[in-house]
Amino acid sequence: MVNRCVCHEVPFWAIAALAKQGESFEQIREATHCCQGCGTCEPYVRKVIATGATSLPLLTPEEQDEIMAEARRRAEAERAAGPPGVPDQAE
Ligand code: FES
Repeated sequence: MVNRCVCHEVPFWAIAALAKQGESFEQIREATHCCQGCGTCEPYVRKVIATGATSLPLLTPEEQDEIMAEARRRAEAERAAGPPGVPDQAE
């Protein structure tokens, strides 16, 4: 089972607690430095944030790819939508 970011010794229970408080992936990464070493933990951290699980089985390469592809799709959709709280000036 995987239960922490090894590079920065950040347990997934701490990540789940921050996510439960409404912190985003980016905010959690900034606060804990998880995913900023080797990067291996990123799909796990994203799954912890999405599910609240604090211990995960090893993800297959395909599962990791799907989690990261979904993260890229969401980031692209957020970029396309523009910054939050800024009204559309085109009208
Ligand atoms: S295990 Fe998290 S950055 Fe390496």
